[in-house]
Amino acid sequence: MNNDGSLNDIRLNASVSYRRDHGIAGKDVTEKLTQNRILTNNDIDALTVLEFAAQDILQKYHAAMRQMEARLETLDQDLKLRKSRNPIHHIESRMKSVPSIFEKLERYGKDATLEAMEAYIMDIAGLRVIVSYVQDAYAILDYLEHQDDLEVVTVKDYIAHPKPNGYRSLHFIVKIPVFFLDGKKSVPVEIQIRTIAMDFWASLEHDLKYKSVYEIEGVDVGAELKACSQIISGVEKRMQILANALESNRAHPKERDVRQARQMNLADTVAAPAEIAVKLAEEGAQKDAAPVFPAEG
Ligand code: GTP
Ligand code: MG
Repeated sequence: MNNDGSLNDIRLNASVSYRRDHGIAGKDVTEKLTQNRILTNNDIDALTVLEFAAQDILQKYHAAMRQMEARLETLDQDLKLRKSRNPIHHIESRMKSVPSIFEKLERYGKDATLEAMEAYIMDIAGLRVIVSYVQDAYAILDYLEHQDDLEVVTVKDYIAHPKPNGYRSLHFIVKIPVFFLDGKKSVPVEIQIRTIAMDFWASLEHDLKYKSVYEIEGVDVGAELKACSQIISGVEKRMQILANALESNRAHPKERDVRQARQMNLADTVAAPAEIAVKLAEEGAQKDAAPVFPAEG
């Protein structure tokens, strides 16, 4: 096997994933890290120790993440049986990569040690729970807060208080007890709960952020994204009103829910973000003035 070729492959892959995660040119960084190809025995020992220690820690977070996911699935099943509700649409899980753990420590101004990683990085294990309605997000948080062996810490409610760019989701850290050979450990897992609609916005916004062109002359992309987020929030409120009215109808119709649904003016169509609407109208007017196919003659 050609050593140069495989090393270049490693550099290329590392550079691509670094760039994807950090949105900056990772080529120079990865080249600097790999240009010294001959490792001393000390380097190899240090790598072995680091790899073992990191694996030991990471597998604890991985176990905590799996157990937390099982709790959420149990909750969903129980709600299905008892209340004919299936609040959870699906769950995604991810472990933070070691480089991004250390990049975050650096950002926080902390030492790059394994102790600091455990003390300060709360999102090494992460779960994203996609639910149908806004109320489901808060209900799940409430159910978890009532499980007496869990400790819910640092709730960031970006639904009640969206980020300035329009990002909405309910974030919190849950510490879950996990039993290992050397005893019980309380391990933090970051949970992000968001509705299908919030997930739609966040995925596209994330995707757009990493596009090579993030600016369109004459269009305030940030303002448009924020406007889209507000429209989505409005649509969600209406869907929630309908869901409440339909759901409560099944057992004991709640007059208030039904009244709210009746008051909704469904004929109100969702408007396009204002600036886009104006531009489309202008373009339409221009088209009328100058036809695409010049008149014969
Ligand atoms: P980081 O984890 O380093 O981002 O810092 P933090 O934990 O203090 O941040 P926060 O709780 O605000 O959000 C962390 C995670 O939420 C990110 O890793 C994303 O998955 C998601 N997130 C936060 N803000 C945005 C946003 O503006 N757009 C999108 N698409 N996702 C976001
Ligand atoms: Mg985070």
